[in-house]
Amino acid sequence: MKNIKAIIFDAYGTLFDVNSAAEKCKDKIGDKWEPFANFWRTTQLEYTWLRSLMKRHKDFWQITENSLDKSMIAFNIDPKMKGELLNLYKVLSPFQEVPETLKTLKEKKFKLAILSNGTPSLLNELVKSNNLNNLFDDLFSIEQVGIYKPSSKVYDIPIKKYQIEKNEIAFLSANTWDVSGAGNYGYNAIWVNRNNNIFDNLDYEPQNQIKNLSGLINLV
Ligand code: LAC
Repeated sequence: MKNIKAIIFDAYGTLFDVNSAAEKCKDKIGDKWEPFANFWRTTQLEYTWLRSLMKRHKDFWQITENSLDKSMIAFNIDPKMKGELLNLYKVLSPFQEVPETLKTLKEKKFKLAILSNGTPSLLNELVKSNNLNNLFDDLFSIEQVGIYKPSSKVYDIPIKKYQIEKNEIAFLSANTWDVSGAGNYGYNAIWVNRNNNIFDNLDYEPQNQIKNLSGLINLV
């Protein structure tokens, strides 16, 4: 991994904790906040894949709201909480080690970018609200190509902008399917395995997996 020129991060689940919105409401939601958050996330991702296959694109914010509606019914959550949950989703918290790790990588002069399903305005608000906006060279959104990950059209976006080889990119994701997509495309895809999960069987074995992002410092 010595020829890396750009380090590209998935956003949701990798830099930012998607469960933090429901967690911040756990006093109101009760013990079911975590299965509810997981169901919301799974439904949201299913909608991205299904809409891409059906060629019926809606942006990630609409999908986030549509999947929340289903999840709130499934978990019998008070409909009055919808606005609060959506507002919290716009300002999700980063995982603890993220700000420090990004600063160290920036000092080492790597090009740093996000490549995400999120819309440009969602990604802007996420990094701004967490004071991370000065650390990234680019916030790449799939809205440029109108199809969700793991389409190769998405992984093409940074290659076209930076004019570098696929294997000069280190791509970090905590989402196994995103690591498989990026790895099959040709990136050096690294799995951020925060919760001791099992990897997928989708034709790509990541050569590197790390427990959290600080493990990246020794790899590049
Ligand atoms: C993203 C989703 C996959 O940020 O987490 O693209």
